[in-house]
Order: sequence, then structure tokens, then C-alpha cells
Amino acid sequence: MMNVQDQLAQKKKSIDRELERLLSQEDSLLFQAMRHAVLSGGKRFRPLLAFSTGEYFGVGEDVLLPFACGLELIHNYSLVHDDLPLLDNDDFRRGRPSCHKAFGEDIALLAGDSLLTLAFEVIAQAPVDKSLVPGKERVIQEISHLVGAKGMVGGQLMDITLSPEEISEKDLQELILKKTGALIIASIKTGAILGEASALQIEALVEYGRNIGMAFQIRDDIRDAIDEEEKKHPPRPSYVFLHGQSGAKKRLKKFIEDAIKALEKASLESDALHYLARRLLDINGDS
Ligand code: IPE
Ligand code: IPE
Ligand code: MG
Ligand code: MG
Repeated sequence: MMNVQDQLAQKKKSIDRELERLLSQEDSLLFQAMRHAVLSGGKRFRPLLAFSTGEYFGVGEDVLLPFACGLELIHNYSLVHDDLPLLDNDDFRRGRPSCHKAFGEDIALLAGDSLLTLAFEVIAQAPVDKSLVPGKERVIQEISHLVGAKGMVGGQLMDITLSPEEISEKDLQELILKKTGALIIASIKTGAILGEASALQIEALVEYGRNIGMAFQIRDDIRDAIDEEEKKHPPRPSYVFLHGQSGAKKRLKKFIEDAIKALEKASLESDALHYLARRLLDINGDS
């Protein structure tokens, strides 16, 4: 029996291999920029969540893989656009020049558009048994709803329009739950719906997802604040801005505890989901 860590490392390899294949269709400038953005060492957190949830309910790797890759493509599109000068103006991503630094803003904008579109093409083409066709349709509805104007993009809007000095705790939670939580929840729901989880189980998994979504962004903000490199954009609302490093760390811990509680309450004994949550406690870890 492989331990959880090795199992997840193996899943990550499958995801990376499939992303590589999906992005090798052409060698146009656009595909070069898309490859630069995606094949650059991301943690693959969201597809690993989709996998871990789906496999807990007995869904096979062949079924999960296109959905997992689609979710990662959406994540990468959001990063390409997020780094553009008119949003976060970040020159680096994953330790390399961001997409627009390597290819120019025009190509990066189009590469982002293409990644988002490719994501839905890959998901729509995912082969599933007849019995899973309604589930697949529901997954597509969930993902598109959660990453759009009422979800991830809506959260990005709050990020750039709300003042970090004046934001309330409630608005900050909403911001993070949309900006970061929505895609994380979409990933978990994808696995759960394909696995025909019960409504109660899905509810518990969403509660888990909300908590790790919060934890994930707080950890990212703590890491960003430690990072030497100056941000080129004005300060954005964050737990670190509101509560300082130690206050943010306390809340990170609490969200992870609550995520685990949500799993336990519904007797969801997935080692992988427990592990993915606990791993967020390691602020300096590279995964
Ligand atoms: C970065 O996401 C953006 C946030 C929502 C905090 P990740 O930390 O998952 O980035 P990669 O994909 O591993 O590089
Ligand atoms: C980016 O959040 C989130 C989305 C693109 C949806 P951040 O701005 O905090 O992520 P990093 O720090 O650039 O990775
Ligand atoms: Mg950013
Ligand atoms: Mg950040």
C-alpha cells in the first residue's frame, strides 16, 4: 500500500502528463504561451482535490482526469490574467517570468482566454458512462457558475475594488470564498458529483472546501508578506493586512481545524482530503 503522499505525487504526475499532452496540439505562439503558463511547476492543488474526492467515492482515474485537468486550466487562466499589469502587475509566477513578461501582454491576454476555453472543451469532451451523463452536466453547470461573475471573477472584482483599510471581516470572507474558495469548492464538488455522493455528503464537503479555501488564501497571503519582492500593486484586503502575521496564522489554523471537523462530522474518512488540509499548516512547505 502506498502512503497518501506517494499516491498524491503519482496523481500529480498523471495530471502533469495529461496537461502536457493537451497543450502539445500546436506550436503556435498561443500554445507556446499557454504551455509557459501551465507547465511551470504548479502544485496542482485543485485537480488533486477533485481526484481525492472522486476516488473516495470510487470514481476511476480515467473518468476524473479530464475534469481535473480542466479545473487546473481554469486556475492557470486566472493566474495569467491576474498577473497582467492592469490587475496585480506581477513580473514573476512560480519563480519564472509571468506569461506577459515572456510573451507580451497581448499574447498573455489571449493565452488566458484560450486556457479558459480549452478547459471547457476538455471537460465537455470527457468520456463518461451513460449513467453519469446527468452528473457530468451538473458538474459543468457547477464549475461554470462557480468560476464566473458570481464566483471567482466576482471575488477578483472585490479584491481590486474594496479598500483593505475599510473592509469588514464579513466582506473579506466573502471575497476570499469567491476569489479562491469557489474554484476549490468546484473541484471538490466535481469529484463528489461524479462519485454520486449524497446531498449530505456534498454539503459536508462544501463546508470542508469553504474552510480550506479560506486557509489556502490566508497561507498564500502570509507567504506573500514574507516574500522579499515588493508587490507592484497597492495593498489588497487580506487577513495579514487586517490581523498581522500572527493573527492570520491563528485563523489559518482554525479554518483547517474546521475543515477536518466538517469531514469528521459526515464520517468522510479520506486520508487524502485530511492530508491536503493539514498540509496547509506548513507555511513554508513547497506544496
Ligand atoms: C495561487 O494559487 C493563487 C491563489 C489562489 C492563492 P496556487 O498557490 O495554487 O498556485 P500554483 O498553481 O501552485 O502555482
Ligand atoms: C489570485 O490571488 C487569485 C485568482 C487569480 C483568482 P492572488 O493575487 O492572491 O494570487 P497570487 O499571489 O498572485 O498567486
Ligand atoms: Mg496575484
Ligand atoms: Mg497572493
